[in-house]
Amino acid sequence: MALSAAIRTAAYYDPGNAVMQHACTTLAELMADQTEQDGSVTVGIHSHCVFLGKARVRTTVSTHERFTFLVQLFESWGINTLTFFAGLAEDELMRALLVLARANRTDSPGLAEAFHAEGVERILIDTIGAGSQIQAVAPVEAYAAAMQLSIDLGEGASAGERGTGRRLRHVTQAVVDQILRDPRSLVALTTIKDFDRYLITHSTNVAVLSVLLGQRLGLSKARLGELCLAAFLHDAGKLEVDPEVLQKPGALDDEEWEEMRRHPVLAAHGLLGGQRLTPASMRAVVVAFEHHLNYDLSGYPRTEVKDSVSLFGNIVAIADRYDALTTARVYRKRNFTPHETLVYLLTNAGTLFDPILVKLFAEMVGLYPPGTVVELSGGEVGVVSEPPRLGSPLDRPLVRLIAGEDSGAVRDLSEQQNGGFVRSVVNVLNPADKGQLPGVDPSIFTLEQQGGD
Ligand SMILES: [Fe+2]
Ligand SMILES: [Fe+2]
Repeated sequence: MALSAAIRTAAYYDPGNAVMQHACTTLAELMADQTEQDGSVTVGIHSHCVFLGKARVRTTVSTHERFTFLVQLFESWGINTLTFFAGLAEDELMRALLVLARANRTDSPGLAEAFHAEGVERILIDTIGAGSQIQAVAPVEAYAAAMQLSIDLGEGASAGERGTGRRLRHVTQAVVDQILRDPRSLVALTTIKDFDRYLITHSTNVAVLSVLLGQRLGLSKARLGELCLAAFLHDAGKLEVDPEVLQKPGALDDEEWEEMRRHPVLAAHGLLGGQRLTPASMRAVVVAFEHHLNYDLSGYPRTEVKDSVSLFGNIVAIADRYDALTTARVYRKRNFTPHETLVYLLTNAGTLFDPILVKLFAEMVGLYPPGTVVELSGGEVGVVSEPPRLGSPLDRPLVRLIAGEDSGAVRDLSEQQNGGFVRSVVNVLNPADKGQLPGVDPSIFTLEQQGGD
């Protein structure tokens, strides 16, 4: 935190300023303390988490901003770790802070050269090499394994069976590992929707989105595993809902809705009745029970026993609503675009949803989440393929063009030229609204037109 504060201060104040001197002295003293034993201390960023040596530093709500600043700074410089060595003098540290805060990041010589030019010798930079980009297959595998498990559960494999329990742990661990390794890789996969087997993709997407949100929150790996499991099973009660209601190809009447609304309680019962109870399975029970209860305790099932929804319940509720609303359902006239859904979450932050979690969720998916169809300045049309890179504004995602000569090409909307952005979103399009997409063959969206549950 001292490092983050000092770099931030260095962006605004000159070395002679008292505030700047204080920030630098505080940091230098801390560094001296830390390096006394081992001769050095390493600060690193990995998967949006800050590490001090090998220990992960936990984020809290009050330190979140300083952490985010540090993460973004490291990413913008392409820094993996900074190692500070014993004997680092205050004036050398001051010069390093000024370079980190002010030097031009797109300049090719890079940070190492800039440090060298300023005579900074006791800070070692480890940059992100080309080697860190190799994992194209793993995210798909983790996602596919989760889907297959979801299919088996739907076909009668009980979460209480020993073999299934083991697989559940394996799969959830694979998802968590993947997200810790590269959080961005799975966001785009959650745009996969299968309308004939809604529950399968839905469970997988909600698990992925929940873990991503939990990871942003700084939950430990063990807790993320529990969250993943709970999110994965949140709708398990739907397997016990009358199939005629579940698969009805049209709007539900009051009585049918009542049947449908039993699924949180059915899931909680089912999970309680299964295997021996562990802390992880207890959390899954709670999440299944709570996931349609809102932050303000509206929603269902109505209960007078609870005075708040658990953290996991609030996380899964956001992931659940996000995935459900962006999926076409028979009982809705038209599905929301990811952008509309995000606006819906933000609008209801503090009432239906936990406001802090919604804010983190928006940072995670960007203002135009993956899957959003956008019209760009200049008339191009594309689908958002990835959230904004860390450090880019929330409205600057990566977009895959779907019409025109460059169809298929990916454009980063944070790309600048002559001090201005090259492309911007001028309009969000909903493929469900016919005639909205000039020059685009509507058949590429046929999947989204189907009903089913
Ligand atoms: Fe549900
Ligand atoms: Fe759900």
